[in-house]
Amino acid sequence: MLNFDLLQTDPAQGDYAGSHARRAALTLSHGVVQTPIFMPVGTYGTVKGVMPASLEDMGAKIILGNTFHLWMRPGQDVMRSFGGLHGFERWDKPILTDSGGFQVWSLGAMRKITEQGVHFSSPVNGDKLFMSPEVSMQIQTTLNSDIAMQLDECTPYLSVEPKTKGQITTEREARTSMEMSLRWAKRSQDEFARLENPNALFGIVQGGMFEHLRQESLDALVAMNFPGYAVGGVSVGEPKDEMLRVMAHSPHRLPAHKPRYLMGVGTPEDLVEGVVQGVDMFDCVMPTRNARNGTLFTRFGDLKIRNARHKTDHGPLDTSCTCYACKGQTRPDGTVSGGFSRAYLHHLDRCAEMLSPMLSSIHNLHYYLNLMTEIRTSLDTSSFGAFRAQFKADRARGV
Ligand code: GUN
Ligand code: ZN
Repeated sequence: MLNFDLLQTDPAQGDYAGSHARRAALTLSHGVVQTPIFMPVGTYGTVKGVMPASLEDMGAKIILGNTFHLWMRPGQDVMRSFGGLHGFERWDKPILTDSGGFQVWSLGAMRKITEQGVHFSSPVNGDKLFMSPEVSMQIQTTLNSDIAMQLDECTPYLSVEPKTKGQITTEREARTSMEMSLRWAKRSQDEFARLENPNALFGIVQGGMFEHLRQESLDALVAMNFPGYAVGGVSVGEPKDEMLRVMAHSPHRLPAHKPRYLMGVGTPEDLVEGVVQGVDMFDCVMPTRNARNGTLFTRFGDLKIRNARHKTDHGPLDTSCTCYACKGQTRPDGTVSGGFSRAYLHHLDRCAEMLSPMLSSIHNLHYYLNLMTEIRTSLDTSSFGAFRAQFKADRARGV
């Protein structure tokens, strides 16, 4: 089940041209998602440190899960007994699961990639395991995710091949990898159909830093007629200008009437530029990971809560933020719960209190989700160009 209704495309007026930005409504098995959207990452069946009720409060409409991690723990039998990931983690809105390719690949020396699939030792108990396109589809079918991803090989920026290790991945290596991902796309699709999975499966464009390889990947995937497409292999260690160049290639060349997902990207600035390039869906660990490291995103730039200058500051993290940490929640009697100072958050961080990463994660995710809400509103009112200019100016101002 997947329906994609294109609602609005950016007229790209004034000094702002070449925009591929668009507004759409994406209907999935567990509900409707307004795009462009940011999807919080919930690798192990939890968005780290954030309760589902908080996710709902901040307006999250779709979250991620990870095939690889949930296969390791709790495993297929437990997951099956709960009828899938929704029942297990008690989240009844849409879920997208990554295929596991990227994560298995990240195991480094502990894995061996062949045409058939990936052989590796379980990082949990050392068991010898095998992940193939077929296995990934079987797990994602058990998870019953609204959107499943094909198994792919994420081509790194720096080569991991023994002969060229550490050098920039060659065109030849990128082609070999991209072509295998295409064969895995077909095998993923065949297995997904055989399993009669009622949800949606996305193909993933690869090709390293080479536009012509990405074009070949894209053409072959479009010919396979997936209900949606992702752009992978971006933000894999390349310099920022390379990332923006690669990100600019694919989204607007994909079919206009299907959703486009940019995997694992990025900063608030990257999201806005992704929208310009015609991306509909984003995910990234940055808001939650940075929260745990004491970096907060705000309208006027990034804030390091560990900085001593916050020790006595009574102001909120972000004066324009309406999250539980910054503004609090109004009770029925008009009084407020929450709404903390920078001084308090600085103190919690200093004392390594659990509430520190929890409140910081709520704030950062709220910031990302609200950014996407503002983008959608600006697209609805044909003012995305003006929004983008103001966004850049505000963020450059500094906190
Ligand atoms: N997450 C970030 N990048 C990628 C990618 O290229 N492939 C997959 N499967 N997941 C990703
Ligand atoms: Zn906030």
